Amino acid sequence: MMRRRPRRNRKSQVIRDMVEETHVTANDLIFPIFLIDGKNKKTEVASMPGIFRLSSDLVLKEVEACMNLGVRTFDIFPAVEDQYKDQTATKSYDPNFFYLKALKEIKKQFPEACIMTDVAMDPYSSDGHDGFVKDGRILNDETLEILGKMALAQAETGIDIIGPSDMMAGRVGYIRNLLDKNGFTEVSIMSYTAKYASGFYNPFRDALDSAPKFGDKKTYQMNPANRREALIEAELDTQEGADFLMVKPALAYLDIISLLREQSSLPIAAYNVSGEYSMIKAAALKGWLDGERVMRETLLSIKRAGADVILTYFAKEFAQATR
Ligand code: PBG
Repeated sequence: MMRRRPRRNRKSQVIRDMVEETHVTANDLIFPIFLIDGKNKKTEVASMPGIFRLSSDLVLKEVEACMNLGVRTFDIFPAVEDQYKDQTATKSYDPNFFYLKALKEIKKQFPEACIMTDVAMDPYSSDGHDGFVKDGRILNDETLEILGKMALAQAETGIDIIGPSDMMAGRVGYIRNLLDKNGFTEVSIMSYTAKYASGFYNPFRDALDSAPKFGDKKTYQMNPANRREALIEAELDTQEGADFLMVKPALAYLDIISLLREQSSLPIAAYNVSGEYSMIKAAALKGWLDGERVMRETLLSIKRAGADVILTYFAKEFAQATR
């Protein structure tokens, strides 16, 4: 006699829906957007089908379209022309530069949208590194000063969440301090806590033309082999005042998401990065995978691993598909 038949809880759609353990909704998603200078400009990222670099007027339209679909949080990244890049990322804190001007405009038009920004030098750096380079080395404390100016300039535009993605030691505390001293106690920090030196970022670097000009990012981003080290980063970011802890990438690091979920009471975010998007898109375009089905399954897996928040290039598409 078989008393236990787990299949009984799968016998109809109603019962399957009733016992469903994990749900993904548009509320959980953050949509990364690539911003370029100019007007009415839209260029597709070759390695990310369906994802475009947009000028600020088109970003405003995109934000509006997404808000109507229930996606309300956006992480804006600038694609900067080479002529504006330098060793100290000067444009990153120039209030007249197109990125900061666009942020202000977005918040003005959509005060109810939640806008996140990226703090790291790479989009503005002639070296293509997240930190300040001297004699081939990435200097930590000198970088903090630049990141601080960048974070302050972003806060001044009225944005909601700052996302330090640079992996310098001590940057969360440094930025928190500076924000508080300048009256920005309400600006949140979503720290890229466990950011691994990953091969999955390449399409993003295409999008921003921000690949390192020499070497790699292994002296600041984490070794993919390490798990305990994520706990050290999480502990420090928590002490330093982070409001969210992020794991990045997501899919090859679901165990890290799960680990931080168990060890921390803070909300855990996961970045479903560019390469993870591209793999699915490429296979779907070839007809090898059912793109929509795999997108849903992927986001579900990240949520099930323990992420509260998912940064994903699928955000708009997911919201459209599940409406
Ligand atoms: C840079 C940054 C990167 C991403 C977000 N911020 C790339 C990198 O570290 O080289 C990657 C995002 C993605 O691949 O989608 N500070």
